[in-house]
Amino acid sequence: MTGMRARRSCLAVPGSNPRMMEKAQGLPADQVFLDLEDAVAPVAKAEARRAVISTLNEAVFRAPLRSVRVNDWTTPWTYTDVIDVVGGAGAQIDTLVLPKVLGPEQVVALDLLLTQVEKSHGLEVGRIGIEAQIENAAGLVNVDAIAAASPRLEALVFGPADFMASLNMRSLVVGEQPEGYDVGDAYHYILMRILMAARANDVLAIDGPYLQIKDLEGLQRSAERSAALGFDGKWVLHPDQIEVVNAVYSPRQADYDHAELILDSYAWHTSPEGGARGAVMVGDHMVDEASRKMALTVAAKGRAAGMSRTQSFHAREA
Ligand code: GLV
Ligand code: MG
Repeated sequence: MTGMRARRSCLAVPGSNPRMMEKAQGLPADQVFLDLEDAVAPVAKAEARRAVISTLNEAVFRAPLRSVRVNDWTTPWTYTDVIDVVGGAGAQIDTLVLPKVLGPEQVVALDLLLTQVEKSHGLEVGRIGIEAQIENAAGLVNVDAIAAASPRLEALVFGPADFMASLNMRSLVVGEQPEGYDVGDAYHYILMRILMAARANDVLAIDGPYLQIKDLEGLQRSAERSAALGFDGKWVLHPDQIEVVNAVYSPRQADYDHAELILDSYAWHTSPEGGARGAVMVGDHMVDEASRKMALTVAAKGRAAGMSRTQSFHAREA
């Protein structure tokens, strides 16, 4: 994925909690999203919108990406969330997170509304992206169409808590297997389905939150699983979770170095000066065009995460 912006850790911050919004400013997450949805009580929605607007306009976040999660389209709140928050602080917003997406029309509706608000406030049309949360059976069944619904779509995000509720899954512990199911991973199909739709449409795939805040080993296990499949990042709910998640979704230094070495070495050997060969040896591994693509994935994740290589390539030694 070219030009990828890192989204290893996506920090959820309740829009109704000024103290947490203040604290979030200095934290090293790749993305901060201020929440107007499930972390905000219905009676506090209007006040949260005001607090989110003033935070976005006044605060300087260390996180390069700033987002707002609006309420889903089945509530009475979505349109006011968008009109008020984008109208009041649109220049400070990189993406809107749309929860509980049921089908592509809900993404299109948000795209259309965003376009009007951008036009009426003199904002660049189309700059604000959309992230669709897949957190119920309907959303998963329609995930391909959702992923293709708008050029604004940047990411598909798994919402495990709502998803488990939507399926009537017999468990109250997000991130762990439902008791009594001992023949595999109950989330494998869901994660793979989301990943396929994301990759087929060139958008990011983001894993949802791990709710046992104090259990950093459990968080690591849960993150390692989706990272191993190819997911790009994971939501975090607490400052202590950021470091673990950033590390899990960054390539290891040795893998990053090796990926960059493969790219340089392959570029050299396939060039006329290097012999114009299509399959070459890098160390004791055979590298061809398919392995170049695998290396590019690792290198792109490392570059997006700001890593630098610790070895350089010399054509003489290749
Ligand atoms: C997140 O929104 C979830 O439902 O897990
Ligand atoms: Mg949810």
